[in-house]
Amino acid sequence: MSAALIPPWLLNLVVVVNGGIFLLLLLPTSVESQNTDPAEAKAFNTIFKNWGITSNIAWNTSDDPCSGSAVQDSISIEDTSHDPFIKCDCTFNNNSTCRITALKVYSLDAKGQIPDELWTLTYLTNLNLAQNYLTGSISPSIGNLTKMQYLTFGINALSGNLPKEIGKLTQLKSLALSTNNFSGPLPSELGNIDGLEQLYLDSSGFSGEIPPSFSKLVNLQKVWMSDVEFNGSIPEFIGNWTQLIDLRLEGNSFAGSIPSSFSNLTALQTLRIGDLSNGTSSLAFITNLTSLNTLVLRDIDFSDSIPTDIGGLAKLNYLDLSFNKISGKIPDSLFSLGSLQYLFLGNNKLTGTLPSNKSSSLTNIDVSYNQLSGTIPTWISSTIQLNLVANNFTGISNSALPSGSKCLQNDFPCYLGNPKYSSFAVKCGGPQIKASDGTENESLGPATYYVADTERWGVSNAGHFLANNNVSFFASTSSQFSNTLDSELFQTARLSPGSLRYYGLGLENGNYTVTLQFAELTIQNGNTWKSLGRRVFDVYIQGNLALKNFDIRKAAGGVSYSVVKDTFNATVTSNHLEIHLLWAGKGTCCVPAQGTYGPSISAISITPNFVPTVTNKPPSNNTHLILAIVLPVACLCLLLIAVCYVIVKRRRLRAAQDEELLGGKLSDGRDVAVKQLAFKSRQGKRQFVAEIVTISSVKHRNLVKLHGCCIEGENRLLVYEYMTWQLYESKRELDLIDEKLEGMFNEEEVKKVIRIGLLCTQTAHTQRPSMSRVVAMLAGDVEVGNVPAKPGYLADWRYDDASFLSTTVSSYNGAYTTTSSATTTMSPNAQVSPLLTTT
Ligand SMILES: *[C@@H]1O[C@H](CO)[C@@H](O)[C@H](O)[C@H]1NC(C)=O
Ligand SMILES: *[C@@H]1O[C@H](CO)[C@@H](O)[C@H](O)[C@H]1NC(C)=O
Ligand SMILES: *[C@@H]1O[C@H](CO)[C@@H](O)[C@H](O)[C@H]1NC(C)=O
Ligand SMILES: *[C@@H]1O[C@H](CO)[C@@H](O)[C@H](O)[C@H]1NC(C)=O
Ligand SMILES: *[C@@H]1O[C@H](CO)[C@@H](O)[C@H](O)[C@H]1NC(C)=O
Ligand SMILES: *[C@@H]1O[C@H](CO)[C@@H](O)[C@H](O)[C@H]1NC(C)=O
Ligand SMILES: *[C@@H]1O[C@H](CO)[C@@H](O)[C@H](O)[C@H]1NC(C)=O
Ligand SMILES: *[C@@H]1O[C@H](CO)[C@@H](O)[C@H](O)[C@H]1NC(C)=O
Repeated sequence: MSAALIPPWLLNLVVVVNGGIFLLLLLPTSVESQNTDPAEAKAFNTIFKNWGITSNIAWNTSDDPCSGSAVQDSISIEDTSHDPFIKCDCTFNNNSTCRITALKVYSLDAKGQIPDELWTLTYLTNLNLAQNYLTGSISPSIGNLTKMQYLTFGINALSGNLPKEIGKLTQLKSLALSTNNFSGPLPSELGNIDGLEQLYLDSSGFSGEIPPSFSKLVNLQKVWMSDVEFNGSIPEFIGNWTQLIDLRLEGNSFAGSIPSSFSNLTALQTLRIGDLSNGTSSLAFITNLTSLNTLVLRDIDFSDSIPTDIGGLAKLNYLDLSFNKISGKIPDSLFSLGSLQYLFLGNNKLTGTLPSNKSSSLTNIDVSYNQLSGTIPTWISSTIQLNLVANNFTGISNSALPSGSKCLQNDFPCYLGNPKYSSFAVKCGGPQIKASDGTENESLGPATYYVADTERWGVSNAGHFLANNNVSFFASTSSQFSNTLDSELFQTARLSPGSLRYYGLGLENGNYTVTLQFAELTIQNGNTWKSLGRRVFDVYIQGNLALKNFDIRKAAGGVSYSVVKDTFNATVTSNHLEIHLLWAGKGTCCVPAQGTYGPSISAISITPNFVPTVTNKPPSNNTHLILAIVLPVACLCLLLIAVCYVIVKRRRLRAAQDEELLGGKLSDGRDVAVKQLAFKSRQGKRQFVAEIVTISSVKHRNLVKLHGCCIEGENRLLVYEYMTWQLYESKRELDLIDEKLEGMFNEEEVKKVIRIGLLCTQTAHTQRPSMSRVVAMLAGDVEVGNVPAKPGYLADWRYDDASFLSTTVSSYNGAYTTTSSATTTMSPNAQVSPLLTTT
């Protein structure tokens, strides 16, 4: 127990003498007396002073480091409310002297070298200096700390070699040197510490081979050795580390293959190996590893097929076998794994079809860049991410898939031989700004892709931020960047934890200049541990390596801004261009936050190096389709269908104040947005307003009531419906479109949309398409087919065509005040509409 609980003055009164005889000596006493070994107290004060830690060390009130919380057994060194902190053992010299046994300066940005005094604290068993900005090297005197069990220098700026004296720390259980700037090989003496259970060396800066002496480290449970410049081969003796539960060997320079001895590592829960060169391995060893939760074997050169008995990995949640040469079919047993949630099989040579059954847990599936064919299984739905880019699937017009999916299949067929464009510019990850003709803040996920409405460009992502489900796939900042005129361009960036591809589609063949713009938005600047992260990735353009181990901050010159612009030449030969940003296991994993790694890009643009012969204009320049659906149920005076799917140039309408957004609520409380749009016939004779209703999910179709806007009843909707039928039957449906929009839309598209609208007015629900089918028809994935006859409830309407067509509208504003003779003639129940007017 701690001596500090005994008042200091008492200690000065009691002296224990040989033979158990107690003499009472009256010595001068002082309440300031110290229990801490004086040399250690001095060392402690020097160390903290060197690191600039002076203020408010809560427990150092009595001039004595080993006091207060430092000697209370109930408070451990891990206690997060105590930092910096020490723990002491006060059982020395018959409980009269305390020694410092644990020292923590965690995440305080302590700066400077490690003072030699630290190596005099020889009773330390636990030293945690993680997440500071310590510089200089580690002294050979570290060998004095022979009682050490838990030692971490992780995330600092330490450099130099690791002294061989580290081997004297024979009690070590855990050693963390991750994310530092060390150099040279690991000392083979490290292999003497055979009780070592945890070894963290990722991004530490060491190089060379894993020392053969490590074969003795058979008690290792956690080994993180990613992003170290290890070369040589992965040692076979690792197969003897049978206690391993977590092994990471990504982003090294290993050659050769994974030793078959790995099949003995049956306790493994996490195994992450990547980026092996010049070797072929067999996947066979994985089927023994039945404790696995996370398995990443990326870019290893596997060429066999996925073992069918992979179904034995019952705990597997995350499987990444991408960037290999795996052939054969995807075994059904893989898709049936009950715990599997993330599956990455991209960039292999898989053939055959997708399994027709899938476990419900499996919701993120990447099979991009294989040779899969056949149709999309029925398990596809909007809640499942399936990245199927660059395969040979058929029947891809599935409403659960992103529109334009077919443009990203093998050979990029949409514009093959029929180019339309000669440039594109994308602002990555952010809201639209003037400088670009496309934004892509579509929320990409672990296995998603997206094709712009204009089919001018697309984007595809495969990869999930391991260890952090909350990392967003884009970053933003409000900072201004001083070395660019387009600061705004850099304030958002697209992030990816794996493979991110941008596509230019429909491009005229020829040579182009590709401009890529980058800014580092997450890793900080300055002398803080948060600046010690390194984001490192590769960029390929048209399959050719353009940037290797690219580090945005390094490229920007390490100054206080981090903007880089680079240009490349690319040759387009089959009407599409691919820019591929790839994380190859390099860089730090988690500075300043978990998930800070992988590609980041702010903007992309490409321009032709030739005089284009194509228009470079999208078919319907930047127009938007707005869908309005209200469903009819006749007798109960419920709101009826009026489907008007119109093509509207939004900005222009907004400018003309012709569009108004109104809020409303459905009877069940759900919000609804109602857009009112003015339309004028080509003859300028008529104007009316269509209700554009966006209902998030139309579950209860039976009673739709709109409040707070000018829709009072079903009758006016019937008017529009009636008019639409009249015009459709006389093949004049284009009269529905505002003449101001002339030339801005594709007439066939409008006609199609109107036909879809009319399909929705069918009385029999069996004849009305489902919402998803409507969407598929709009997307062009499903044929619209023939429109049946006018619904019966419209046939009952009486209506004077001639008088209707002769009506004119003077102005939109006037529309609210003038009454319409046409509407009053249409139905016995028709209310006078404030919206449909004539003069
Ligand atoms: C502990 O307290 C003493 C006296 O108040 C002071 O001299 C010493 O600098 C303090 N140590 C630290 C590390 O603040
Ligand atoms: C890392 O060490 C090298 C010398 O080995 C030095 O040139 C470099 O500046 C250091 N980097 C950092 C971030 O401290
Ligand atoms: C693995 O351990 C066994 C038993 O200790 C030993 O005989 C064998 O040589 C070791 N294998 C390797 C590759 O070191
Ligand atoms: C696995 O371990 C057993 C016994 O420990 C050993 O006999 C066998 O050779 C090892 N397998 C491999 C592939 O190293
Ligand atoms: C894709 O499928 C078509 C027809 O099924 C076939 O002709 C073509 O060779 C396939 N392409 C590839 C790259 O597999
Ligand atoms: C995407 O951009 C639009 C505007 O262009 C913006 O309203 C929206 O909030 C953005 N979405 C995200 C997720 O940033
Ligand atoms: C395009 O670029 C390639 C490689 O730089 C060059 O060989 C080729 O001649 C160029 N083609 C044209 C049409 O300029
Ligand atoms: C759309 O096309 C019209 C005419 O073709 C053109 O005047 C207008 O500038 C285009 N708008 C955009 C945003 O490209």
